[in-house]
Amino acid sequence: MSIPHGGKLINKINLAYNYEGITKEIDLDNMALSDLELIAVGAYSPLDGFLGKKDYESVIQTMRLSNGIPWSIPITLAVSDVIAKKIDIGDKVKLVNDNQVYGVIEVKEKYTPNKEVEAFKVFKTTESAHPGVKKLYEKDNVYIAGPIILVKRSKKESFANYYLDPVETRAVFDRLQWKKIVGFQTRNPVHRAHEYIQKSALETVDGLFLNPLVGETKQDDIPSDIRMESYQALIDKYYPKHRVFLSVFPAAMRYAGPREAIFHAIVRKNYGCTHFIVGRDHAGVGNYYGTYDSQKIFSNFTEDELGIIPLFFEHSFFCKKCGNMASSKTCPHNKDNHVILSGTKVREMLKNGTKPPKEFSRPEVVEVLIKGMQEMYTKI
Ligand code: ADX
Repeated sequence: MSIPHGGKLINKINLAYNYEGITKEIDLDNMALSDLELIAVGAYSPLDGFLGKKDYESVIQTMRLSNGIPWSIPITLAVSDVIAKKIDIGDKVKLVNDNQVYGVIEVKEKYTPNKEVEAFKVFKTTESAHPGVKKLYEKDNVYIAGPIILVKRSKKESFANYYLDPVETRAVFDRLQWKKIVGFQTRNPVHRAHEYIQKSALETVDGLFLNPLVGETKQDDIPSDIRMESYQALIDKYYPKHRVFLSVFPAAMRYAGPREAIFHAIVRKNYGCTHFIVGRDHAGVGNYYGTYDSQKIFSNFTEDELGIIPLFFEHSFFCKKCGNMASSKTCPHNKDNHVILSGTKVREMLKNGTKPPKEFSRPEVVEVLIKGMQEMYTKI
């Protein structure tokens, strides 16, 4: 199993913490709430709070914390100018969502980011058409930094049994006696191409950690409860039970492509993975990133300092002539033989009750998705 990033798993959970005397509070949006919890459980080790200015600037400019440890996505807490004026350095402040106190921050710094620079460095674009940039621009203007304590766990979705902290996934991998574990990030249903690269990786390691992201995603992504049902159906029918473990990654999706691939890998290292799959356009959106940019970015780090081995996969597809899943590395045939569908096209099909072909998606998965999507659209 891997050593946590920075050497040890952070634990900032104290559900007995007495915050009665604290009067000031900051309202958290869903992304900040999930970041708070992920810091506290150690998924973002070595972070023990929201980034201060020196670390923030270092992450933006160099993809490293100021002590040199690789870290590619700034984890920040934004407040309005009005709230920032009320908060003093040294204050303890309650972190609140929907009138519930989830945490406390000990304020060390307040600073104003240059959001255009942040957008350009992190997302490679300043266009607000990019969902990650849009979210950044909509955030408040002052960042509050300092160590946090988690005083309450957030409400779990309908798939409550699938929320495991890094310390728990590590215990599971130990129990299963897995030494080499490959992590798989996804925000989509698992289609045949995903299954192909997962199983190709699984041929050389002990176990697959299927770790779908279930925090905030953009509106047209398939909702997490429908996806979770589809993962269970797929594992039931097509995966050896003792070689795959499913639990969720409750973070928000940033759509930061290459930088998010590094972040996703580091987090999975904290959950215990030794290897991490990076396929085509990992964490990408629209045409903002090149197909393999999320793989190329790994060359900025040595394997030692990253501490998790990325496994790169070419764009995979079903080839009718091969009669198999394949990629340009393994298939000699012309593109006309390849079954390739875009995510948008598949979502359209599911919405209309049209089944994507079995070469693209397992029928059991399609069934769950069509049912789920149709129920969703009749509710709206
Ligand atoms: S992501 O935003 O979470 O990366 P998605 O769920 O589509 O999106 O992808 C999960 C993983 O599978 C990523 O590593 C991605 O690069 C990879 N992937 C998705 N589709 C393919 C494909 N057709 N061929 C190879 N890799 C793929």
